[in-house]
Amino acid sequence: MYLQTLQRNWEKFGREDPLWAIATVPEKFNNKWEPDEFFATGRRKVALLEKWMDANGLPRSRRLALDFGCGVGRLTQSLASLFERCVGVDIAQSMIDQARRFNRHGAKCTYVLNDFPDLRRFKSGTFDLIYTEHVLQHIHPRVSLGYVREFVRVLAPGGLLAFQAPCKLHRFEFPNTGLKAEVRVSAPFVSMEEGGRAAISVRVKNTGDHVWGKTVEPPLPMRVVVHWCTPDGQVLHPFHCSQTIPGELLPGQEADIDIPLRSPATCGRFLAVIEVVDFNEKPLPDGGCTPVVVEAAIEPSSETRENRAKAGSEADRPVMEMHALPMDVVVRTIEQAGGKVVEARSNSPRNCHTQGWYYVTR
Ligand SMILES: C[S@@+](CC[C@H](N)C(=O)[O-])C[C@H]1O[C@@H](n2cnc3c(N)ncnc32)[C@H](O)[C@@H]1O
Repeated sequence: MYLQTLQRNWEKFGREDPLWAIATVPEKFNNKWEPDEFFATGRRKVALLEKWMDANGLPRSRRLALDFGCGVGRLTQSLASLFERCVGVDIAQSMIDQARRFNRHGAKCTYVLNDFPDLRRFKSGTFDLIYTEHVLQHIHPRVSLGYVREFVRVLAPGGLLAFQAPCKLHRFEFPNTGLKAEVRVSAPFVSMEEGGRAAISVRVKNTGDHVWGKTVEPPLPMRVVVHWCTPDGQVLHPFHCSQTIPGELLPGQEADIDIPLRSPATCGRFLAVIEVVDFNEKPLPDGGCTPVVVEAAIEPSSETRENRAKAGSEADRPVMEMHALPMDVVVRTIEQAGGKVVEARSNSPRNCHTQGWYYVTR
């Protein structure tokens, strides 16, 4: 059940905005990553790994590599330059489909869907390299530690398992006074087809004392969010849509934001309630933003009932989970599975999650 929910979320990310879901730079939200620029970030990451491999003489052979949670193949494509063959596995078919489209290495690089809580499709001792980055953090530790045990099992003798997982999460604290916003909409009414889409234009104004986009370190943007509600005010889809406000906004300045809405699943009258919140999606302190309401009339569509039901369920926003794995727990798990930790280090960039890096052999 848990893995099905996880899979549904990542399927949706893969369909809607795959590159941003992988590298969540606020300015790249809504399909703004250029593929070349995006894949260059993967090359830089794999270059660091290669440096470690050269310095430590691991893995002893460079035949077969596994990229776990490969997404669209950002890292797999670079690994394919270092290994005879590469396999990327992912829980989302939508990601696998994109990875195959972006593949520049032909049969040398294969992508496989894996929606098991383990790696049963691979024999023990199969891979010379197992690499995973920005994946375990999105899986509940109950399941992610199981994958760590599996990595050790499918690692070849003299192979290298290298991965990242945050040891401790950092919560970005926004100021608790002086954050204020005003929201205006171009039209107080929108008409949509059942299961359809519409964009609404919103003008936001920074009416507080802080510069938005510079309020915390690292600079994190504020957001405009939309909640779908019934006419009597019951919340149907909280945070149906969450759009970052790019760049910096000084006190008194305004910005125009287009918000892509998807209709609720049924016809009728609904309210789209729009407000500015902080990056953590916490309301502004002291009622710093009065929500604005857009009335929505959802009309029957010409689509079949089946398609409508599918599109309707789209109104839920996919969730990106975030979990930490304490370093001592990870090291114990590796050792109990028969792995030998060559290096385990952590770094704590200021105001960021503390990252753990693990290099393991057997
Ligand atoms: C943030 S992306 C990172 C993609 C890739 N590692 C990169 O850095 O370019 C996380 C990926 O992990 C995948 N994923 C999440 N849970 C997974 C699981 N249980 N098994 C395999 N892949 C998973 C998601 O579908 C998504 O493609």
